[in-house]
Amino acid sequence: ASSRDPRRSRLPDRMSPVHAPVAARVVAWQRAHGRHTLPWQNTRDPYRVWLSEIMLQQTQVSTVLTYYAQFLERFGDVAALAAAHEDEVLGLWSGLGYYSRARNLHRCAVDVVELHGGSFPRTAAQLQTLPGIGRSTAAAIAAFCFGERVAILDGNVKRVLARALGFDQDLSVAAHERALWTIATDLLPPAAADDAIPRYTQGLMDLGATVCVRRSPDCAACPLAATCVARREGRAHELPVKSRRIKRSAQSLWLLLVRTEGGDVWLGKRPAQGVWASLYGVPMFDSQEALMDAVAAVVASEGVSNGRPSLAYSDPFVHVLTHKDLHLHPVVWVLENPSPIDGNGRWFSAQAWPALGLPAPVRALLAAAA
Ligand code: ADE
Repeated sequence: ASSRDPRRSRLPDRMSPVHAPVAARVVAWQRAHGRHTLPWQNTRDPYRVWLSEIMLQQTQVSTVLTYYAQFLERFGDVAALAAAHEDEVLGLWSGLGYYSRARNLHRCAVDVVELHGGSFPRTAAQLQTLPGIGRSTAAAIAAFCFGERVAILDGNVKRVLARALGFDQDLSVAAHERALWTIATDLLPPAAADDAIPRYTQGLMDLGATVCVRRSPDCAACPLAATCVARREGRAHELPVKSRRIKRSAQSLWLLLVRTEGGDVWLGKRPAQGVWASLYGVPMFDSQEALMDAVAAVVASEGVSNGRPSLAYSDPFVHVLTHKDLHLHPVVWVLENPSPIDGNGRWFSAQAWPALGLPAPVRALLAAAA
């Protein structure tokens, strides 16, 4: 391995000449062993590819399949999505989590219609200017739909490349992450008329999702195993290096689930900022005292209940968000007569509330309290 070419010095000295380039091996492997029948494959429609890439950002394929079909059923093209009310989009998204994706999805559709005449732009650089489309997602859409020679680098691909190349610099440092982007770009197949770019892009995703998984990678199935630095050095579990963990916090929330005997529930739209932004939800309080004060205020002003309101306390549980652990304390209050509970919400019937965009734990609690 003394044949190091200084012009390629950004690449680790990773291959002996008997091995085909990384890209050629990934492309051949994807053809033989990759995934070919997912519903967002075998299309070059940027609307479909974009929708799938946004859904797949934090969610596994098996979960996305149903949501993807339902979305396409309701919104067959970007114009239909742009014309919808945000609440309906959030309703269809309900359960997929990371709701900023759904808000950006809707804003992006509106921008495509209003700023781009209803057609997605055709380059990664332009796609990246749209809401919710980051560098890697823009590259994926441009590579799949337009064959652009641009690198993707999502979490899975970082793992594949860091291991294959023995890239052990800390990716929490922006300069190191940029270095890996440069390497990813150098590794791309040469621009070609055939399907090398989309196939390579899909191949890296498939390797990361099915072979080079975080724990116990299946190196026997990997087309890069013969030259993989992490494998040779027994360091797969150490790579990629990412030192900075997101700062996590915890918060207690008391949830007041108010329903009538007829099954109506009191729900209001959450503010555009903060926990569960723009979704519907039940009244939430920082403490049990605050919740009790609110209940007392309703009782005093409406005379909804003779004597003490009957509240049922459920076991608290933890719901994990990206940046915080929510310690949820549900309290169910069954009212005989529907009266206003606060200035924000309204009553929704048992038929109406399931279609709203609701946080998954609130949906589960409402279903359990019905
Ligand atoms: N994850 C992100 N994009 C994907 C794709 N196109 N196919 C499968 N999994 C993915």
